[in-house]
Amino acid sequence: MNMGMASAIESGLRTVAKPATPLLSVTSLSKCYDGQEVIFRDVNFEAPKGQVVSIIGPNGAGKSTLLRCCVRLVEPDSGSVKIGQCELTALSHRQLVKARTRVGFVFQKHQLIGRMSVLSNVLHGALGRHSGPRLWAQALAPNDQREAAYQCLQQVGLQDLALRRADQLSGGQSQRVAVARVLMQRSEMVFADEPTASLDPRSGNEIMELLQRLSHEQNLGVLMVSHDMSHAHTFSDRIVGLRDKSVKLNAPVEYCSLSELKDFF
Ligand SMILES: Nc1ncnc2c1ncn2[C@@H]1O[C@H](COP(=O)(O)OP(=O)(O)OP(=O)(O)O)[C@@H](O)[C@H]1O
Ligand SMILES: [Mg+2]
Repeated sequence: MNMGMASAIESGLRTVAKPATPLLSVTSLSKCYDGQEVIFRDVNFEAPKGQVVSIIGPNGAGKSTLLRCCVRLVEPDSGSVKIGQCELTALSHRQLVKARTRVGFVFQKHQLIGRMSVLSNVLHGALGRHSGPRLWAQALAPNDQREAAYQCLQQVGLQDLALRRADQLSGGQSQRVAVARVLMQRSEMVFADEPTASLDPRSGNEIMELLQRLSHEQNLGVLMVSHDMSHAHTFSDRIVGLRDKSVKLNAPVEYCSLSELKDFF
């Protein structure tokens, strides 16, 4: 154990080896809902490109709130969030809506439009980049966009289901379409809140493998919340542990044993 790590543990916060060139920088972030109980205070962490960072912690610790504060889907009370050079916490509502088109979301409940085809749902990912009318309707989309959407589906192994209605997919397939939509969006950062929670173990593993592969191969930053410590341990590059209203663990995964992660709760 190096000296930095020893002193970090002694001070009660285990922070090891800051990531180089962060894509996401969260500084002194605090939140309480409606002036009531503090959910977390003075949260600091960073997430670089090309890595999966997992937030872990007990039920109700504030993980989802923290993830949502990072894109101001929930407004933090104080602190700053930067994605690349963009200080999200300084943006007007209109600027924020535009900035959010550069990040993708994969949430627990799949946010697909059930009555539309898989391809249309993926095309929907390009909406932020194109103001043309109804690009997301597959019949109206230009050929190059349709081709791009097929390629995104290919990357998640679902090109054969492109024309199926989204409400006829399994949970695992829906989640893959959500990832394809993020790829279509050309996001530089993906936020995922328990993306495997509603999936069987095999589909869950496949989604995690996919997120990790895309992150590493396409230099995508991934910040996810995970309840599954095996997933967090196997598929993350860095672990941020939230407990008792603050970050108690912030370390590359190679410094964290699986049993330590399980004991974190
Ligand atoms: N919109 C809201 N208004 C008021 N309180 C909220 C709101 N959303 C969440 N909370 C409270 O904030 C705390 C943190 O909730 P949050 O959903 O962020 O926790 P979590 O760590 O994601 O939990 P879980 O592991 O169960 O998903 C909880 O006590 C919850 O009741
Ligand atoms: Mg949650």
